[in-house]
Amino acid sequence: MATNLTIDGDRLWQSLMAMAKIGATEKGGNCRLALSDLDRDGRDLFIGWAKDAGCTIGVDKMGNIFARRPGRNNALPPVLTGSHLDTQPTGGRFDGVYGVLAGLEVIRSLNDAGFETEAPVEVVVWTNEEGSRFPPPMIGSGVFAGVFDLDYGLNRADLEGKTIGQELARIGFAGDRACGGRAVGAYFEAHIEQGPILEAEQKMVGVVTGAQGQRWYEVTVIGQEAHAGPTPMKRRRDALVGAARMIDAVNRIGHDHAPYACATVGFAQVSPNSRNTIPGKVFFTVDFRHPEDATLTAMDGALRADCQRIADTIGLQVEVKEFWYFPPTPFDRDCIAAVRGAVERAGYAHMDIISGAGHDAVYMARVAPTAMVFVPCENGISHNEVENARPEDLAAGCAVLLQAILARANAPAMP
Ligand code: GLV
Ligand code: MN
Ligand code: MN
Repeated sequence: MATNLTIDGDRLWQSLMAMAKIGATEKGGNCRLALSDLDRDGRDLFIGWAKDAGCTIGVDKMGNIFARRPGRNNALPPVLTGSHLDTQPTGGRFDGVYGVLAGLEVIRSLNDAGFETEAPVEVVVWTNEEGSRFPPPMIGSGVFAGVFDLDYGLNRADLEGKTIGQELARIGFAGDRACGGRAVGAYFEAHIEQGPILEAEQKMVGVVTGAQGQRWYEVTVIGQEAHAGPTPMKRRRDALVGAARMIDAVNRIGHDHAPYACATVGFAQVSPNSRNTIPGKVFFTVDFRHPEDATLTAMDGALRADCQRIADTIGLQVEVKEFWYFPPTPFDRDCIAAVRGAVERAGYAHMDIISGAGHDAVYMARVAPTAMVFVPCENGISHNEVENARPEDLAAGCAVLLQAILARANAPAMP
């Protein structure tokens, strides 16, 4: 074990703050929507740093960026680490960015020590992890892992109808490499927790044993547009009233499956959205999460029954379409052990934890031994401009990431 290797926490922090200038928002957060000009600027900054660190850069057809540091035996599959640079519209400075720049800091530290790994190490920037501009999330890693085919990935469109393929070409990141289809020795992703548990338990590092499952839906409610004045209350088929009751039902389904269920409506469109026309159509999304698949199935049944019952009461039509799903995902036993071993040797306060958020690691777990490293974030707040994390925790997570990567890159499984 390379105990003499240390990461430079100050350099990591400076890099995070430099990246945070790109798309900085008034309230101290970041807006760097996937494949926007600002996302391109962030990608360019990362690539410049990675080249300065001696890496070669490859970009695949989904725009995923791979910065490679060779090993002694370059026939071995690389150990991958990374995350994403895109953000929510009102995102923070650490979600995703930390995993990318912690990976870069690992490479810089290896360089400083002149340390050669057996297998190559690659830092990856996955395209469109957030799925905020182009739903669903984790699409770059999803295509890499073979969950989606390339056409599906390239044809995801934003609200203006612009596709991932078009926007990749526009910002110069439509790479020529095949997306996926190559062996990966192991995948590690460092991330802020995005929830309150580590902070409440006063732990510096979370050993992530897996991620909870998610089911996302698109719900369309159809009523009848009519004049807001002459139409008596009894004759109305108001799609927004139906949607409001359905949204309340979604929230109740979350509470009904406490303490672990999460149920969110985060996006809604009302049509025609005119003050004096009774709404004829509402489109909204549902995000269900739970660590157990059976509970997600029960929540699915409750959603469909509640939406139909509410629609029937008001005389509406409703369509509940499942849009995206992944089951609860356990991570790899040996990779988890590599993270736990690193954190124990370093002596950081730690605990096992299940990820509440989706991460590229969920899809990578299908094609490579995978684990994650979490660090706390202030008040557990994320997907918010005030998202914050302590430099010492970020450094601790990065030091653990380094040792976990070394455990795999120096004792690689033969392909
Ligand atoms: C990713 O940000 C998620 O919504 O879990
Ligand atoms: Mn993230
Ligand atoms: Mn996020």
